[in-house]
Amino acid sequence: MIPSQLLVSATLSVFSFLQVSSLDTFIAAVYEHAVILANVTLTPVSPEEALALMNRNLDLLEGAIIAAAKQGAHIIVTPEDGIYGVRFTRESIYPYLEDIPDPHVDWTPCNHPNRFGHTPVQERLSCLARNNGIYVVANIGDKKACNTSDPQCPPDGRYHYNTNVVFDSQGKLVARYHKQNLFMGEEQFDTPKEVEVVTFDTAFGKFGIFTCFDVLFHDPAVTLVDKCHVDTVLFPTAWMNVLPHLSAIEFHSAWALGMGVNFLASNIHNPQQRMTGSGIYAPDFPRTFHYDMKTKEGKLLLSQLESHPYRPKVNWTSYASSIDAFSVGNQEFKGTVFHDEYTFVELKGIAGNYTVCQKDLCCHLSYQMSELRSDEVYAFGAFDDLHTVEGRYHLQICTLLKCKTIDVQTCGDSVDTAATRFDMFSLSGTFGTQYVFPEVLLSEVQLAPREFQVTSDGRLLSVQPTSRPVLTVTLFGRLYHKDGATSASAHSTAHWLEGLLIVIIPLVYSLCW
Ligand SMILES: *[C@@H]1O[C@H](CO)[C@@H](O)[C@H](O)[C@H]1NC(C)=O
Ligand SMILES: *[C@@H]1O[C@H](CO)[C@@H](O)[C@H](O)[C@H]1NC(C)=O
Ligand SMILES: *[C@@H]1O[C@H](CO)[C@@H](O)[C@H](O)[C@H]1NC(C)=O
Ligand SMILES: *[C@@H]1O[C@H](CO)[C@@H](O)[C@H](O)[C@H]1NC(C)=O
Repeated sequence: MIPSQLLVSATLSVFSFLQVSSLDTFIAAVYEHAVILANVTLTPVSPEEALALMNRNLDLLEGAIIAAAKQGAHIIVTPEDGIYGVRFTRESIYPYLEDIPDPHVDWTPCNHPNRFGHTPVQERLSCLARNNGIYVVANIGDKKACNTSDPQCPPDGRYHYNTNVVFDSQGKLVARYHKQNLFMGEEQFDTPKEVEVVTFDTAFGKFGIFTCFDVLFHDPAVTLVDKCHVDTVLFPTAWMNVLPHLSAIEFHSAWALGMGVNFLASNIHNPQQRMTGSGIYAPDFPRTFHYDMKTKEGKLLLSQLESHPYRPKVNWTSYASSIDAFSVGNQEFKGTVFHDEYTFVELKGIAGNYTVCQKDLCCHLSYQMSELRSDEVYAFGAFDDLHTVEGRYHLQICTLLKCKTIDVQTCGDSVDTAATRFDMFSLSGTFGTQYVFPEVLLSEVQLAPREFQVTSDGRLLSVQPTSRPVLTVTLFGRLYHKDGATSASAHSTAHWLEGLLIVIIPLVYSLCW
């Protein structure tokens, strides 16, 4: 028999150990990096030239990592393509790639630099993490040799992966993630055969990681939250802003809110390519963000976050399906938002109530403007269909937006300034999904922290008059299960995919450690 006193003290010491080693809050950093681009990207350079360019970028990242660590940051995220840039062929990316081993090998490149061949970039990142006592998240390229024993092996005899790596504060490689949803033009990289659902535990919560375009799809992004229950998502990106609904700060902060996780988004800084917009987003409101189309400099952001943020439960259909439609008194018209045809009505008065429907989705809006201007027009619209340009994904969207000019033909066009503030808005929709991302974007592409809330019955509600004029107030819904099908011919594909999913899902889930 174990003496009870011993049992108690053993329990206590385990308990106090847990208390010492776990933190309720932590300091996160993201760095928006003005990446130095190679002069030549479409023809191969020598390995020495490739490394020289990567070291120039690493010099800048080093400055950010040291500055973040000095300010107490526990972890720093750097952008996708932040070390070698963009626009390569398979051949021309090759000199930039390193073999990145599975983290289970237990490797600290700073201590054992030559264990897996020539890996100077991993060595430098590992040393930066170790010497500064900070987790470092970076995006580099992985190469894996293959041969004819593998029928899918590319003709050049190797797989190339767009890869995120994480080194812990001792410099050890703790995570490696190969990007699943490559964007158009990323032909230098291969798609992994199976979705990788990558997580790691720290004293300040459980982390998941994915890259850029992945954020629009179910796997691995939604799986990390729903099945692996991560607290914080690490998100290196090279994001080109698309208004009105897909600017970086807008969509990424909305994802944090809709999914109930912390989200650390680090973008490339390249205003010429419309790439800017990084931030540290918590599920209740954005803690800090950066959007800068004017300067050429990078920017370090820091903020304190809760290690285990509270995830509120929202039923996105409850309110909208419980009320009667408002009568629309004025004419509907069609307008195009990023290649999609919306059904719109124009907001006629300084205040009003409107309902607008498309297919299975009805959207309700109540609003009060601060003033009714003659030089601006706002429209309220609904969209329920498969988006097919630059990716296929089914959307259900309710949106209030500023039209580019007073001609209603321009409703849905990109516009980044406005003059009308709103004293009140309330937006809801009869969504066929619980994956709805609430966006509020103000004039000059600014977020509205603490100016609105989401209620448990699925309303996006203002809590005060907006601090700036309004570009858009939007509920961006994703129907992941409909991505595979719209027409009758696509139906059989969906069935086939469903069968495939049943096979794949257990594999994917077993990867959630
Ligand atoms: C590109 O070429 C210019 C002019 O020759 C040079 O100054 C610059 O350093 C080069 N950039 C890179 C990344 O090599
Ligand atoms: C081909 O790949 C397999 C598995 O990776 C390996 O065992 C084998 O040695 C390779 N063969 C050649 C000729 O490289
Ligand atoms: C959401 O609310 C609607 C209407 O009140 C109800 O029918 C539905 O079952 C709820 N959905 C969930 C997931 O709770
Ligand atoms: C909008 O509807 C609410 C109640 O549903 C009502 O109190 C308000 O007066 C209406 N506003 C306008 C401008 O019709």
